[in-house]
Amino acid sequence: MGGTAESGSVENTGAEIIDGRAFAAGLREKVAAHVAALKAEHGLTPGLTVVLVGEDPASQVYVRNKERQTAEAGMNSDLIRLPETASQDEVLDVVGRLNADPAVHGILVQLPLPDGIDENAVIAAIDPAKDVDGFHVINTGRLTIGQQALVPCTPLGCLMLLKDRLGELSGLDALVVGRSNIVGKPMASLLLHESCTVTIAHSRTKDLPEVCRRADILIAAVGRPQMIKGDWIKPGATVIDVGINRIPKDDGKTRLVGDVDFDGAVKVAGAITPVPGGVGPMTIAVLLKNTVTAACRQAGVPEPGTQ
Ligand code: GUN
Repeated sequence: MGGTAESGSVENTGAEIIDGRAFAAGLREKVAAHVAALKAEHGLTPGLTVVLVGEDPASQVYVRNKERQTAEAGMNSDLIRLPETASQDEVLDVVGRLNADPAVHGILVQLPLPDGIDENAVIAAIDPAKDVDGFHVINTGRLTIGQQALVPCTPLGCLMLLKDRLGELSGLDALVVGRSNIVGKPMASLLLHESCTVTIAHSRTKDLPEVCRRADILIAAVGRPQMIKGDWIKPGATVIDVGINRIPKDDGKTRLVGDVDFDGAVKVAGAITPVPGGVGPMTIAVLLKNTVTAACRQAGVPEPGTQ
């Protein structure tokens, strides 16, 4: 329902708000249906085990949500807690045990890990077939060269929202702002495989506003609150905001905002994800989907096409 924008002016009746919460709920329903079918037809119950080291409050919330949603989808859901003081060898031992357990199809080690534990070493120890985060270099490499991989959840969720809104992405100018291993780089790979013309912008990019104005698809994943302004957006563009930033309000409380100045961008974009309620809910829904995918591949049964 985005209106037309005259050249230079902002004549938009308001962008379509992409409802990630509803899309994620639909995806979770599809995953649950596939889990039920896998149980009935193959006697296969996908299982996800999350490893949480330490007491980081944000991680506790994420992990509780993952555990609950995994169980709600009918899968086996397990949480292994290790103390803040756990050594790297103890974490690696747990990962080794989960790699060897045939009932565990997905392993997720919650990040960040406490100081003194090498995240790269822990991720490298996860069996790539069970790496439902898609962080292992084997999965990263496979994604890059277009082979079958487990794909990081947040960028895959962004791609699903984009395809749902736009259908064919081929030939579109896509800009990814942010070059992290978890979001920016895999997002760029996914968009390249969709035959977009892909640009990755970052903190050293010259004239970022002008680079943004060329983008039909703009993915904001920089972690800087409201950095991308409304007048940087190409009229009618699809804007996916991955940022989740907490900023102070006048009343001393805080609120969540994205990396995009939503109030400005919503007047110019064709469609935009809100924060909260956009990309955020997609991440766990895709994690569940990745767990089903991993279970099917390990068991040698056909994968459900949930996209
Ligand atoms: N911490 C915050 N988000 C994530 C995630 O998607 N995966 C893992 N492993 N840790 C996280």
